[in-house]
Amino acid sequence: MDINRLFNKDLMKIAPYEAVDSPETLSLSYGIEINNVIKLNANENPYGPSPKLSKALNDFRDYHIYPDPNQKIAREALSEYVGVSPNHILVGAGADELIDLILRCTVERGDSVMICSPTFGMYSFSTYINAGLLIDVPRNQNFDIDLESINRSITDRTKVIFLTSPNNPTGNMISLDSLTNILKNDILVVVDETYYEFSGKSAIGLVSDYPNLVVLRSLSKWAGLAGLRVGYSIMDPSIVNFLMKIKNPYNLNIAAQIALMTSLEDISYLQSNVNLIIEERERLHAVLLSSDGVVPYTSHGNFILCKFNDGIATVLYKELASRGIFVRYFDSLVLKDCLRISVGKPEHNDLLIGVIRDTLGN
Ligand SMILES: Cc1ncc(COP(=O)(O)O)c(C=O)c1O
Repeated sequence: MDINRLFNKDLMKIAPYEAVDSPETLSLSYGIEINNVIKLNANENPYGPSPKLSKALNDFRDYHIYPDPNQKIAREALSEYVGVSPNHILVGAGADELIDLILRCTVERGDSVMICSPTFGMYSFSTYINAGLLIDVPRNQNFDIDLESINRSITDRTKVIFLTSPNNPTGNMISLDSLTNILKNDILVVVDETYYEFSGKSAIGLVSDYPNLVVLRSLSKWAGLAGLRVGYSIMDPSIVNFLMKIKNPYNLNIAAQIALMTSLEDISYLQSNVNLIIEERERLHAVLLSSDGVVPYTSHGNFILCKFNDGIATVLYKELASRGIFVRYFDSLVLKDCLRISVGKPEHNDLLIGVIRDTLGN
């Protein structure tokens, strides 16, 4: 029997999302002892989650009971953290799940979704999965969005635009002026604030005035929960209700819920790590700025995009990997000479700086 005959032909054509390798895979592929892998390729938090989390997970007794499909206590706790009422909030298995849910509840075959490249890869991947057409309105040389082109390229089949602030991988923000301008269009405007805690600037204040605004957040980065999958979105209650209707009923699993609640009870500890990462981001940026052969872009996230002199990025990527330091290389024309470096602990950053300086001959 030809099993392929049964598969969805449109989905078969989609290229897989290029997710980063796990530490185990990196360790095996590069022959690096796993404890020596320095993972600076996925904007993870090097300090990990709240130290109170393992006890909280250990003390919980009811893992045999399904989680709450309405996410009541999680939404109430987030309501206090964010400052909006729980009926504006929906929690997901990471921001990734919410990106997919938003597209599932809006896109019909032939509808379009707008992105501004270079940007986070899940927007295009999830658009294709949901049978949407992708409209890319590339950013300018400084990686700012092209407001005029965006407004011009919106058609009556455009349902959603993804704006990312700070943007991954470029690290820059979108201004509230540009955002309010785009919000005048009759489309859903998703502002992805996955890196909000590293920038301190949010569009959440606009949600009550604009029912077409959706703000996405994540606990993967500031709270160190990438492995437990917790994200949330803030939006008009009518959108929350629709997403609630179509989502997997138990999408916020119990371990993720405990991790969320524990993080929100330990904000000052987690915020002190965010502050350390911001300090290191600024130190790393200054060191790279003073080095010949590399231009670091200003970042409001926990990573820095760096443009290297011709041909150096691939050499440096390999050199870093041979020493167990893994950064992100993008196989695209506009980011050809670039590497995105997640900000690590000071000792990781020192090792990284040493290899970069040696390779650049500084
Ligand atoms: C801009 C952006 N949005 C969303 C995500 C995914 O976040 P989560 O881990 O909550 O699914 C990432 C992850 O790197 C990201 O960079």
